Amino acid sequence: MVKMRSHMVWLNLPNMPTPVKVLFIGYLLVIGLGLLMAGLQIMLTHGMADGKPGLSMDDIVYSYYGNRTNSKIEAKLHGSMKEMGTPESHLEIIKWVRAGSTEADWNAHIKDVFKENCTGCHGVIPGLPNFNKYEDAKSVAKIDEGASVQSLTRVSHIHLFGIAFIFFLMGFIFSFAIGVPRVLKIVVMAFPFAFLIVDVASWWLTKYSPHFAWFTMIGGIGYSLASTYMWFVSMYEMLILSRNGKIYGNAWEADMKAWGVDPDKQPEAS
Ligand code: HEC
Repeated sequence: MVKMRSHMVWLNLPNMPTPVKVLFIGYLLVIGLGLLMAGLQIMLTHGMADGKPGLSMDDIVYSYYGNRTNSKIEAKLHGSMKEMGTPESHLEIIKWVRAGSTEADWNAHIKDVFKENCTGCHGVIPGLPNFNKYEDAKSVAKIDEGASVQSLTRVSHIHLFGIAFIFFLMGFIFSFAIGVPRVLKIVVMAFPFAFLIVDVASWWLTKYSPHFAWFTMIGGIGYSLASTYMWFVSMYEMLILSRNGKIYGNAWEADMKAWGVDPDKQPEAS
């Protein structure tokens, strides 16, 4: 009897059949673009949270934890509204804010402070909060508590489902790579999932304590590096390494050998 060998020696990225390569390369190209756009979007939204371009720890803290030392109105009264109204009015407004910005105090007195000092613009210029109205004053008097639980649950589940899918396919393609040490391959494939969990967990933790912002950084950098590595190795093997006509053998078989299993042995009847 002829010895059955089903080594599938083409089962590796350089020797993969062309239609499958087209599928893999097409996917990686689109995903690569997507990841670049995701990076850009993070820079443009979270990156500007502290008012300065570029992603910093403060951005992450402001996005998830908020800026709890100050309400917006207090920050403005120390900043661009410093010259508006009298210093006494600022003091009264800040006291009202810190005492909980109640409607009772508003009606009793604070309404008039705003009327004398602020409504010349805030109440006339469109787009600015209208300080004739309690609701508008209240909304800028709130302490900024960062992301809400609702928005975190929404973003978390979209992120976990969506990104796990991306990493699954990317890791699946990369599993056919040859010449990558076995342990490195396993670690690189596991990393994005581990860092994804670290990343999402860190948003929630940062909401409760700003110290966890570090984990958001580490998580993001971790899975960016792991996926960039998989992307370049896979592309290189399919597009460049494939050109020398060599047969590289079954990329998955190396794992059997590592476990001491001889792939030439017939399966035993059980
Ligand atoms: C001369 C017109 C003028 C006066 C008077 C004025 N503001 Fe403003 N205010 C502005 C303009 C213009 C902006 C938008 C630009 C900015 O944020 O600096 C603004 C923005 C703000 C914001 C931020 C609004 C937001 O949603 O981003 C707050 C809070 C604020 N002002 C509070 C006050 C208070 C309190 C007073 C009274 C003590 C006051 N302003 C008086 C013109 C004025």
